[in-house]
Amino acid sequence: MAQSTGYNKIKTAVFISGTGSNLNSLIKFSRLKKSPISVDLIISNNHESKGLNYGKIFKIKKKVFDFKKKSLTEKKILVELKKNKIQLICLAGFLKILSKNFIDTFKGKILNIHPSLLPKFKGLNTHERAINNKEKYSGCTVHFVNSKLDSGKIILQKKVRIYKNYTPEKLAKKILIQEHKLYKEAILKIFSP
Ligand code: GRF
Repeated sequence: MAQSTGYNKIKTAVFISGTGSNLNSLIKFSRLKKSPISVDLIISNNHESKGLNYGKIFKIKKKVFDFKKKSLTEKKILVELKKNKIQLICLAGFLKILSKNFIDTFKGKILNIHPSLLPKFKGLNTHERAINNKEKYSGCTVHFVNSKLDSGKIILQKKVRIYKNYTPEKLAKKILIQEHKLYKEAILKIFSP
């Protein structure tokens, strides 16, 4: 039986670059009985990522790769993923763009969360761009990763209303709360029988 120990669950690596609040939320979710995934590995491109602390707190293996030589780094990551029998990758605030070769190796098994209603506002500075564009709504999207930036098949989205006085920071905070819910829902949607 799949229990909170992770036995029988889909072995998952979460890739981060910064704060790791999505990582934290995914780890907590993964420890529930209903979760189809277990988080077994944390990968970051940045030694300073605050999110790496969750590895310590939850006793999950973490590895940092500097990405100076991308193709070599990706090869090393693939070795690490294989060693840990990783079956699924969740990108969560990961700021490096993975190569087509890497993505093809893990075809259909890489998810990403993006803080906009894709296909609108791919890439960075999404909140600022949504506000400047006078959008009434923004939100977040969980999607499969393909070799085009933020363009893979959409799994789920959540909308957030943008009010007149909103700054990019205020919008980011509101969307982040929804992101934490959305990632779990998307995983349940994909893997539930
Ligand atoms: C999130 O808004 C994510 O969608 C974006 O960067 C932010 C990362 O937040 N790509 P965190 O590191 O999960 O707290």
